[in-house]
Amino acid sequence: MRAKVRSEVERLAGRVAQDVFAGWERATLSRAVAAALDAERPRLVREVAEHTGGQAARAARAAVEEARERGLERAAAEAVGAELAARLAEHEGLVHALASDATEEALLAARPELLRTVREEVAKAYAEATPAVIEVSLPGRRPVRVRAATHRALPELLTALHARCHVLLVGPAGTGKSMLAKHAAEALGLELQALSLGPTTPMSKVFGYFDAHGHYHDTPFRRAFEHGGLMLLDELDNGHPGLLGELNQALALRTCAFADGMVTAHQDFRLVATGNTYGHGGDHQYVGRQALDAATLDRFVVIDVPIDQRLEYRLVLAGAPSRREEARALLKEVRRLRAVAAEKRLPLTFSPRAGIDGARLLEAGATVAQVLAWRVTRGLSAAHRSALGLDAPGREREPQDARPESFG
Ligand SMILES: Nc1ncnc2c1ncn2[C@@H]1O[C@H](COP(=O)(O)OP(=O)(O)OP(=O)(O)O)[C@@H](O)[C@H]1O
Ligand SMILES: [Mg+2]
Repeated sequence: MRAKVRSEVERLAGRVAQDVFAGWERATLSRAVAAALDAERPRLVREVAEHTGGQAARAARAAVEEARERGLERAAAEAVGAELAARLAEHEGLVHALASDATEEALLAARPELLRTVREEVAKAYAEATPAVIEVSLPGRRPVRVRAATHRALPELLTALHARCHVLLVGPAGTGKSMLAKHAAEALGLELQALSLGPTTPMSKVFGYFDAHGHYHDTPFRRAFEHGGLMLLDELDNGHPGLLGELNQALALRTCAFADGMVTAHQDFRLVATGNTYGHGGDHQYVGRQALDAATLDRFVVIDVPIDQRLEYRLVLAGAPSRREEARALLKEVRRLRAVAAEKRLPLTFSPRAGIDGARLLEAGATVAQVLAWRVTRGLSAAHRSALGLDAPGREREPQDARPESFG
């Protein structure tokens, strides 16, 4: 038993010794490690420091390098920017100076044109927006207002009529000669009488006649002559020379032999004749016209009635109030054809009537192409079509540009 206890005590003592030894060993070991670490610390520190220092230095160098590059870049960019800005400022100044010089010059050069355009536009807008009324003042008469768009030759005509002259209005077809006579009558407060002359117009149409019952039938001419009024003798250059010869006396002496006797002209008798020629015979366009007797011509003041572009524009636009753009396009084409026909001396007429009637057709629903075909280019020969540039390849049938090239 004692031996058993002893061996047990020895086993326990052995274990304790073992534990103590293990503890000692661990302590010794850690001490040794600590001592070794202590011994190694400066080296380790140096190494680590060197290592990290190297890395840091490299990083710092890289950072410095990068920063330097960035800095350089920025500086370079700044320098370039500054240079550019300076140049730009310099150039801008130059450009501004040049531009203002040029503008000033251009303005000076363009001023008359600008003013003209502005005036035209204002006149156009005014003409389109206001009803036409002109006031006529003649010496010794109360001013008269004519409520119509009138031809610019009206004042000349009124002056001549006021001076009690007989007037021959000469101009191409459709320029408004007959209408001028009507407006003149209105402005002078006279009744209008009218007769259109042709090669076969008989004397009785002017001087009247007695019928089979012995009744005298008067004429527009007789009424104006006897009671006052404005007599329009349309197409004088188309009248029979014999008839015109008979008229000479009435015009010169202001007395006239009518079928029923001599009559003296009323003091308010005025005569306006119209013609497409100056009475020297036909030309390439008005072929059948009579050469008027020098004695007949000598009795007239002759006033030219060319196309009044402003009036034409106004009448065309007034004819198609709901199709203004197309009306402008139509007018532009009529004017183009007119210019080509005049330049090539073609025996063709593109009168204001074409545009005025055409505008009415537009307003009634026709297209520009239809109006051109029906009213403007109808009946043209192939040679004339080609001379006028119609049917040329690539040419559009319907003109696009609606602005009239000329207004005044
Ligand atoms: N001032 C005007 N106001 C309104 N319409 C006008 C005016 N002048 C002309 N016209 C119109 O223009 C067209 C041509 O006018 P007008 O018949 O007076 O011309 P004309 O010169 O006598 O022509 P022709 O030589 O063929 O006899 C007509 O349809 C007419 O109604
Ligand atoms: Mg006429």
